Amino acid sequence: MKKNKNSSLIKTRKLPFDKYALYNQAVQSPEDDVEFYLKCYKTIRKGKKPITLREDFCGGGAISCEWVKLDKTHKSSGLDLDSEPMDYGRANYISALKPDQQDRIALIKKDVLSGNLPTADIAVAINFSYFLFKKREILKKYFDNVHQSLNHKGLFILDIFGGSQCYDAIEDKTKHKNFTYYWDQKNFDPVTSEADFGIHFRYKGKKYEDVFSYDWRMWSIPEVKELLQEVGFQDVQVYWEGTDRKGGGNGIFKQTQEGEACLSWIAYVVGIK
Ligand SMILES: C[S@@+](CC[C@H](N)C(=O)[O-])C[C@H]1O[C@@H](n2cnc3c(N)ncnc32)[C@H](O)[C@@H]1O
Repeated sequence: MKKNKNSSLIKTRKLPFDKYALYNQAVQSPEDDVEFYLKCYKTIRKGKKPITLREDFCGGGAISCEWVKLDKTHKSSGLDLDSEPMDYGRANYISALKPDQQDRIALIKKDVLSGNLPTADIAVAINFSYFLFKKREILKKYFDNVHQSLNHKGLFILDIFGGSQCYDAIEDKTKHKNFTYYWDQKNFDPVTSEADFGIHFRYKGKKYEDVFSYDWRMWSIPEVKELLQEVGFQDVQVYWEGTDRKGGGNGIFKQTQEGEACLSWIAYVVGIK
């Protein structure tokens, strides 16, 4: 989860709260995510039903769990390098599934850059995890692995974010019932397009800094599209989020040919095999 020089320090730090539970509450929306993937596949593949989903960089595998809950034919696999979040997911998310759902999910310790990724109808890379690959040839290698692993008519769904505000050093805060979540954009280097981000939590009056931290390259939509096409995806579509009455995102993503110069935006890029 944390890919900076302090990662071992952060990992062994004793915290008075469950960091994955707070992360899940503040950042993830796996129920909505899987609904979008299913709708997207059925729309693009004209009603055909996907069966298998692979969640790359799965952490605790929250998306894989929601996928098997959505339909009794669904199967999922989650890949991650790190046993800690996967063990957390097994103990907290998978254990809460019904036995037949548990039988249809597997979290596997595997580097997505290694070959022979498990086959799938849909592969997803969510919460911008692939931003940790900073070199074009490395990201291309990952995309190539995904392309090879997808079944006939498979889709690769990635999320991506940007906007002028994400280049500013600002800290955004959201209050939740028992804690406050902070998304801290620490810096951005226009020469390398690299940026550092941190997630902090305030819990029982004390702020815990860098519970999760990210050292990323800010990839753009055209860069991602071009790389997907280079590894063989026949088409690449972009899904842009609609706005609510206050001008914020409404969680509804529609296919588009053009975006808007928003302060901050999130979109999906879909590679079609
Ligand atoms: C930002 S977390 C994403 C967690 C989850 N996907 C989510 O939606 O919040 C990134 C995860 O990617 C994993 N990771 C980093 N490099 C990887 C690699 N080469 N192969 C597989 N997993 C990797 C990390 O261990 C970490 O759990």
